[in-house]
Amino acid sequence: MPKAISVRSRPLGIFDSGIGGLTVADAIRERMPGEQLVYFGDTAHLPYGDKSEESIKKWSVCIADFLLAQGCKAIVIACNSISAVAYSAVKKRVGPGIPVINVIDPVVGHVCSEKNFKHVGVIGTKATIRANVYAAKLNRKRPDMTVSSLATPLLAPMIEEGFFNNSISRTIINDYLSRTKLKKIDSLILGCTHYPLIRPEIDAFYKGRIEVFDAAGIVADAVKAVLDSENLSYSGKRKPQHHFYVSEYTTAFEKSTRIFFKGKVRLQQKNLWR
Ligand code: DGL
Repeated sequence: MPKAISVRSRPLGIFDSGIGGLTVADAIRERMPGEQLVYFGDTAHLPYGDKSEESIKKWSVCIADFLLAQGCKAIVIACNSISAVAYSAVKKRVGPGIPVINVIDPVVGHVCSEKNFKHVGVIGTKATIRANVYAAKLNRKRPDMTVSSLATPLLAPMIEEGFFNNSISRTIINDYLSRTKLKKIDSLILGCTHYPLIRPEIDAFYKGRIEVFDAAGIVADAVKAVLDSENLSYSGKRKPQHHFYVSEYTTAFEKSTRIFFKGKVRLQQKNLWR
């Protein structure tokens, strides 16, 4: 039964600690140009990857409340750290009827349905790697798979500060990717939504020797599938006006919205914790 047009016209909420989620938001915009997006980047608390589980849960639930108050019809957690430690808390808070999509499940499903990878590497924040969710979910589907996870905590703050595609980012990336843990992998999951921004440098390191997966396109496809199956997709013609909120204004975020997100961006500061 198709949902009422008023429900399907409502915005889609997306959140992350900062600019990383824009990689997912942009892939969603590309596939579903009529959807109106409300994006929240918690730049006041970033990076989430170094924070406690308790704090990540507390902030995430609060952002979910904000997105619900904006009338969002579905919520995308465009952050691995939040997906790894606070997905259930957010889902519980949002309640039934409003889908909550995390970034980990679609990527795990995709990697397991691809070639028969034997040894998968995962890089991500400390919070994501500590939670060990990727290894647990991959091994649940493919018990024979070896999963080597490495925390790469410098990468998200580095990207957030605008350091990518330069000699500093290259040095840090090459150092992490050369670690013994990742020596024998045949595929690598970029387990942080910031990392598509350094994808060219990661590809340059591997020179096609292994398969690299980032979440943006995979998650956007999953979001489209959920909206379609729940009859929540917007089917009309409109040029949506997206809203981008940050808990603390940062020039890096402003610059990045313009680089990574096509279309008009009106940045608004919203401190949910004042
Ligand atoms: N983009 C986030 C992720 O996918 C994390 C960045 C941060 O540590 O704040 O894990």
